[in-house]
Formats: sequence, C-alpha cells, structure tokens
Amino acid sequence: MVSKKIVKLLNEQIALEADSSNVYLAMAAWAEANGWKGTSAFMHAQTEEERGHMKKFMHFLLEVGEQPVVAGMKDPQNTFKDIKEVFKLALAHERKVTASINDIMTEARKSNDYAVTAFLQWFISEQVEEEAAVVQVLDIIEKAGQVSIYLADKEIGAMRQGK
Ligand code: FEO
Repeated sequence: MVSKKIVKLLNEQIALEADSSNVYLAMAAWAEANGWKGTSAFMHAQTEEERGHMKKFMHFLLEVGEQPVVAGMKDPQNTFKDIKEVFKLALAHERKVTASINDIMTEARKSNDYAVTAFLQWFISEQVEEEAAVVQVLDIIEKAGQVSIYLADKEIGAMRQGK
C-alpha cells in the first residue's frame, strides 16, 4: 500500500506533467505562428510526451488502488522574445520536473516503498534525456548565433579587399 503522503506527491506530479504539456503546447503555438517550424515540431512532440508521462502516473496510481486526481491548470506563457527564450524556459521547466521527481523518489526510499521506487526509475532516466535534449538545442542555437557572426566577419573582411 502506497502511503497517503506519496499518493499526494504522485497526484501533484500528474498536475505538473499536465502543466508541462500545456507549457510546451503554448510554445509550439507561438513558434508555429512566428514561422519557427522546427521549434514548433519539437514542442508539439514534447507536449504529447508530457501527456504520456501524466498518464503513466495516473495508471500507476490506479494499479495500486488509488484514484488519480485531475487538477486545473494555470495559463502558460504564450509569448516569447525568441526561440532561445523558449528553450531556456523549457530547460528551467524540465529542471523543476526533475527536482519534483527526485523529491518523490526520496520519499519513496525513506518509506521503503520499492514499487514506487521501481516505477520512478524510468522517470529519473527520462529526465536525464529530456534535460540533455534541451541543453543540446540551446547549444545548437548558440552555435547558429556564432555562424551569423562568422558570416558577418567574412563580409567585413570582404569590405577591405582590393583597397
Ligand atoms: Fe515529463 Fe519533461 O517531464
């Protein structure tokens, strides 16, 4: 039997995963509206993944005989300065999710709840992958910025050629 405290934490995680799905859906919509097709595709895929995460938590609670609670959601951020801001916010969000999952894992270990510990292990690995993917995107954006400077530098150099 899963403790009431852990059930509460798992229900809060359902709300956080649903919120993640909504946060990324708003990012996908903004990106699509502003012509950033790649970012939009990334975020559309992400929003579905997060919904899948939410359902995994729901199914687990049902399997251990608890009724999952569906909570209301707050409005996500809908406008962004640029795609760099989108991914910086996504990274901050993923770190919040990681911290939340780690907190549940800590509680499960304290309670010697092996079922919850085993269930959460998949999410621990998933968070490593998710954070790494967003860090990789930020690196791509950073390097793309440097490419623009490199091209500008070439043009600046060309201005003095033949003088
Ligand atoms: Fe379900 Fe990206 O955390």
